[in-house]
Amino acid sequence: MISAEEQKQVLSLVRQTKDLILKEMKNEEVMVKGAANYVTNVDLAVQNFLKEELGKAFPDIALIAEEKENTGLSEEGTYWILDPIDGTANLILDFRMSAVALGLYEKGEIVFGAVFNPFTDELFHAAKGEGAYLNGNAIHASSTEHFGDAVISYGSTPYTKSEAKNLFPIFYNIFMKCGDFRRTGSAELDMCYVACGREHGYLERDLKPWDYSAGTIIVREAGGVVRTWKGEEPTYLTNGDILACAPQFEEILLKELAGEKKS
Ligand code: IPD
Ligand code: CA
Repeated sequence: MISAEEQKQVLSLVRQTKDLILKEMKNEEVMVKGAANYVTNVDLAVQNFLKEELGKAFPDIALIAEEKENTGLSEEGTYWILDPIDGTANLILDFRMSAVALGLYEKGEIVFGAVFNPFTDELFHAAKGEGAYLNGNAIHASSTEHFGDAVISYGSTPYTKSEAKNLFPIFYNIFMKCGDFRRTGSAELDMCYVACGREHGYLERDLKPWDYSAGTIIVREAGGVVRTWKGEEPTYLTNGDILACAPQFEEILLKELAGEKKS
């Protein structure tokens, strides 16, 4: 766990990335990592900044990050888990729906998380047992009762399109029962939107640790649920098929997701 003073320090570092992001975006360079998968100078600048500053403030805590080799991880360890820009494709499109996401992993669980959208100035954060907040105000998952009114956000897993024939029938079944769908392009923001009631559920297969770690503690501290599609606890150090939702929709969503086949 980190103290209230340390949390303040980390949140201030996360907010400081805004100027860096806006500056780096003026000379944007895009590199292609794979199908529908990009990295920019913005991602790299944010990662370098936070790696350096967190390293100075917390020399004993190693960093796991998207634009980095992550080897020799131990379940018993303590790590920062960083996505310097979650929603890189959105950033390139000037969609203004991207976030810096930082989680703190401690022995199998996430104990602190911060997700910051520099374009809306929205900073979500939570620490274990202390509630979830948006710009300092407490947030809660939605209490909407009927699944027919629920807005569900999904990730399309664009990097493995071969899975779409298995995934989309599941999404179709859910779509026919819920109110409507969203696709934001930032997993971490989707999770925060579940935490503050803008969405009632979010599901995506094969998320990387940095796509869901910070969001997990924010959803849980807001009274929401985070599970794998099999209803298990995510690992945080490996990829996961992730469901985040208001608790009243956990059962119905897990039942639908259990019908998913992998080829
Ligand atoms: C991606 C976003 C997107 C999700 C992908 C992620 P990135 O992260 O969160 O919403 O669908 O699975 O990889 O690549 O923009 O950091
Ligand atoms: Ca990401």
